[in-house]
Amino acid sequence: MELIDLLILGLTLFFLAIWWRSFIVINGGGAKNLPPGPPGWPLVGNLFQIILERRHFIFVIRDLRKKYGPIFSMQMGQRTLVIVTSPDLIHEALVQKGPIFASRPPDSPIRLLFSVGKCAVNSAEYGPLWRTLRRNFVTELISPVRIKQCSWVREWALESHMKRLKSEALENGYVDVMDVCRFTVCSILVFICFGAKISDDWIQDIDNVTKDVMLITIPQLPDYLPILTPLFRKQMKRAKDLRKTQMECLVPLIRNRRAFVEKGENPKLEMLSPVGAAYVDSLFTLNAPGRGLLGEEELVTICSELFVAGIDTSTSVLQWVFLELVLNQDIQEKLYREIVESVGKDGVIREEDVEKMSYLNAVVKETLRVHSPAHFTLSHATTEETELGGYKIPSNVNVEFYIEWMNEDPDLWKDPGIFRPERFIDGDGVSVDMTGTKGKVKMLPFGAGRRTCPGLALGLLHVNITLARMVQAFKWLPAPHAPPDPTEAFAFTVIMKNPLKAVILPR
Ligand code: HEM
Repeated sequence: MELIDLLILGLTLFFLAIWWRSFIVINGGGAKNLPPGPPGWPLVGNLFQIILERRHFIFVIRDLRKKYGPIFSMQMGQRTLVIVTSPDLIHEALVQKGPIFASRPPDSPIRLLFSVGKCAVNSAEYGPLWRTLRRNFVTELISPVRIKQCSWVREWALESHMKRLKSEALENGYVDVMDVCRFTVCSILVFICFGAKISDDWIQDIDNVTKDVMLITIPQLPDYLPILTPLFRKQMKRAKDLRKTQMECLVPLIRNRRAFVEKGENPKLEMLSPVGAAYVDSLFTLNAPGRGLLGEEELVTICSELFVAGIDTSTSVLQWVFLELVLNQDIQEKLYREIVESVGKDGVIREEDVEKMSYLNAVVKETLRVHSPAHFTLSHATTEETELGGYKIPSNVNVEFYIEWMNEDPDLWKDPGIFRPERFIDGDGVSVDMTGTKGKVKMLPFGAGRRTCPGLALGLLHVNITLARMVQAFKWLPAPHAPPDPTEAFAFTVIMKNPLKAVILPR
């Protein structure tokens, strides 16, 4: 440790001691009616206890739930976290008391660097900027008209996808499902965003930079103890370098598109979607409250949000579906039969077709239940003091909604650990509402309320159509040298520790 670090540490402890004294005075030493939780250490609360556990936060939360019940709290450095795990309380907070729980907590300097001070749908605080960005996202990306307008993009990307599956199988004897699907979903989103067809290498660069950004923005000590930020200088430097790479990767796409939209220039003939049809077109003229017209920094952030939010989530669902299909050949056969009955053995599966395939939809829902891509929603923050589950929830605390818990609750699901898509056809999943708008909730893989995932329809479409095409064309079998391993690893989403490798046989 350098001398400057020791100095910073000393000053940090000094200021923390002052902060802690005022915290005790203001909060009456924790005596006010906060949800119960584990006793913490002076100054840092439960922060270092969690770090010293040396296991993922999710496992700590699962143990604490057993001890403290469906709602509890923790003091993580300077942030109070309230953890909500029961479906009724999650629904009450996110839907019935929606606006109060709809904000986002403060961010660390690294996260602020990538969000340009919280200028994206997912990161903006609840208010006019968030409303404008989200409204724009909904009309420009996921309105039925826009989704239809972009059908041909998926058609083109899926054609290449099938070729890639074949060539990878020929070359290696198996396919890495996650790898191939990531590339396809990324290329679809890049096209929807910039309206341009670009080289495979460029798409790969965008995917790589997206993965790195997701890794570097995972919450760390300064998120909870901002005063420690100076100790993370090296990481900040790495983050700045990465941001530069991200800008270099995406700014040329933005500039080319602007030249096409404003002057009709298209020298490399890469612009295939007409003016107004790419997401970024709408951002060029958007007047964002508090920001005005958006600069290149903001445009890069808002565009990359599509990749950060849309690639990992959809592809991890696809990978888990295929794990279940190679392990459960009877389910795969049933799905194949439904596809053949709907469009024929060699018929082209269109987007309207997959909506009508009830078994396919059941397989995807069961995957979202058993292998929920997210255990938590993104962190929420309260906009004012309120009450939940009989406890007081102060203003501007972090509220973490543990949505995965309800998927494995035996009071809600029969044999919750068993993968059985039929439950969504004639069992305990029939009337399930995944959006939380109809009242009682049993599964919320996309969250609910004000901050619910606006990419739901697009994400499900990408999963459903890709899955249907892959099952129609090939029979999927476990790779003999690498048996499927359902061990989970926790990254941005819940991924497979050992990525699935499968053998494919043409149908
Ligand atoms: C199967 C795929 C997907 C799953 C499971 C999923 C899940 C989620 C979840 C759990 C949240 C957090 C909600 C909250 O904080 O309460 C979220 C937020 C979000 N998702 Fe998705 N998502 C998926 C696909 C997509 C796609 C394809 C896009 C965009 C192209 C997208 C864009 C977003 C955005 C922008 C937010 C932030 C919303 C806000 O803060 O207002 N998602 N998603």
